[in-house]
Amino acid sequence: MTTLVSNIAELVTESDRYPTRAHGYAFACDAGVITWVGPESEAPATDHIIDAHGGAVLPGFVDSHAHLIFAGDRSADFVARMAGEKYAAGGIGSTVTATRSATDQQLRAHAQLLIDSMTSHGITTFEIKSGYGLTVQDEARSLRIAREFTPETTFLGAHVVPVEYREDPDSYVDLVCGDMLTACAPHAKWIDVFCDQGAFTPEQTKRILLAGRNAGLQVRLHANQIASLGGIDVAAECGAVSVDHLTYMSDSELQTMATHNIVATLLPGVEFSTRSPYPDARRFLDAGITVALATDCNPGTSYVTSMPFVIALAVREMHMSVDQAVWSATAGGAAALGRTDIGRIEVGKQADFLILNQPTIDFLAYNPGTSPVARVYRAGQLLRSAHE
Ligand code: NIG
Ligand code: FE
Repeated sequence: MTTLVSNIAELVTESDRYPTRAHGYAFACDAGVITWVGPESEAPATDHIIDAHGGAVLPGFVDSHAHLIFAGDRSADFVARMAGEKYAAGGIGSTVTATRSATDQQLRAHAQLLIDSMTSHGITTFEIKSGYGLTVQDEARSLRIAREFTPETTFLGAHVVPVEYREDPDSYVDLVCGDMLTACAPHAKWIDVFCDQGAFTPEQTKRILLAGRNAGLQVRLHANQIASLGGIDVAAECGAVSVDHLTYMSDSELQTMATHNIVATLLPGVEFSTRSPYPDARRFLDAGITVALATDCNPGTSYVTSMPFVIALAVREMHMSVDQAVWSATAGGAAALGRTDIGRIEVGKQADFLILNQPTIDFLAYNPGTSPVARVYRAGQLLRSAHE
């Protein structure tokens, strides 16, 4: 069945790095794929019409970084930080304890709640990491559950060294590269490590990323959130598709990312929730780096399910234009996941799109604390509809 999306005030239809805001445009899709984009006056006849009611239309958000398999919350950590404490990787341990004692059904139901919220804020593709189990069984079950929701699953057994290995972190690295990887690789597309102060060293990171790559996984990395330890060089050596966080970056690290064509995934929800300095996105863009924006939804550093909120922070605090932020939350996220089939409204892409109840995408940043996302479509099917 062919469908035309019409009566669009502003259509974000992207050619290259930045969106083109087209006016008076419409697009058509068939069997979940975009088949035509152009001036509405030239639209083909279709079986069905979706009326955008004069709202802006943009691609569905692609959230390339989220930790959705966990139990409990860390609101007390957040409150303590707002009273002056600093974020430390060690806090992950309390979520690990809660996650290990949760049932599969509890983890599944909780992930579903987070996903429902993400969807209602316009996220049509999302990645899910393990990393709160940290035993062979608990990591494998986290990924099994994650796979029920998305093909974009990431093995993050190297999130932090669990307490039972505190005296001998290298044997934990052995476990991650050995039995844990064997049990997890069948359920994962990606390997990831938290390479930072209080987590894993660059040497340990390299071992784990290479072991993952040998097991057929693609590489992504958490680095430079708390400190710069050398993770960027390791990412380059290991062929990482994306490095995420990047709160602290030297010019030479930026150069390395640009040379190796590594996507920079910025996570302003983390700087917000840990009261850290926001990275200046202009440094990344000026260096020619592809920038993605993601929620990093997790209980410790970014309990955030709203991409409009992330976009508002990126515009206000990281000096992105609205166009750049929207590109990074859509096509940029797709690049961070190595996906060419999503993230843009253009012929041949999957018909994932959002209809706003406002006439321009500027409202995503201009009207923070609320969401202008009125209707959410994935592969041409309505996923969510809010009161317009
Ligand atoms: O992406 N930085 C490492 N991992 C998560 C936070 C984990 C936690 O504190 O629970 C993140 O920010
Ligand atoms: Fe993360």
